[in-house]
Amino acid sequence: MQCAGCHGDNGVSSAPEFPSLAGQLATYTYKQLQDYKTGQRTHTLMTSIAAGLSDQDMADMAAWYSSLPLPKNKAGKKDLEIAEQLVSEGDGKRTLPPCYTCHGSDGEGERMDIPALAGQQAEYFVATLKAYKNGERHNDIYSRMRILSQQLSDTEIQELAQYYQQLQ
Ligand code: HEC
Ligand code: HEC
Repeated sequence: MQCAGCHGDNGVSSAPEFPSLAGQLATYTYKQLQDYKTGQRTHTLMTSIAAGLSDQDMADMAAWYSSLPLPKNKAGKKDLEIAEQLVSEGDGKRTLPPCYTCHGSDGEGERMDIPALAGQQAEYFVATLKAYKNGERHNDIYSRMRILSQQLSDTEIQELAQYYQQLQ
């Protein structure tokens, strides 16, 4: 209930700066909540919210959100060639691996800690990639997203956010 105010009744957030949680991998959501609680990931609101959650609360909420369908985006589809290239082929010159190798060909996420991106709010997506890029967000094990995002331009980040938001 406390979460729905920002993340939406069905895990589809109502404001662009709040991430949607619907359809997210439970292991990813659980890790993020633990990271907020231990201070690995910091955010004024989420740090204080996570401080009041037990391990069981986190596991229950992560399981619940993962049982919901990924958000469907209502925005009209745009052609996003730069993003399509980065997602499906990456860029050998910059040693950028294609996003799909980790996040899945439909942005559905994969394995333990790799989140689904499909239908995610573009504004949140841009903000969090920029936070990895400048090191403010540093809870990615092996620095995978920090290393990658440092090689992306702001224009590329914008396009990638649009691409994933309209994927569903
Ligand atoms: C007042 C608004 C607000 C409330 C209430 C709130 N959140 Fe959040 N939540 C946010 C914002 C903003 C972010 C993005 C923070 C950041 O950039 O680190 C976030 C991020 C998250 C993330 C990380 C998502 C991702 O894709 O990495 C999880 C998981 C999460 N919240 C779960 C919860 C749960 C569970 C509750 C209820 C116990 C809750 N939140 C309550 C605003 C809120
Ligand atoms: C080597 C595997 C790998 C590749 C390739 C990769 N990612 Fe990630 N990505 C991850 C992992 C792992 C996380 C979660 C890290 C954490 O716990 O913070 C993540 C997190 C993210 C997040 C944060 C999601 C959220 O809800 O907060 C975004 C956005 C993202 N990746 C976008 C991309 C884009 C765009 C590309 C391609 C340019 C890409 N990733 C390529 C592994 C990868």
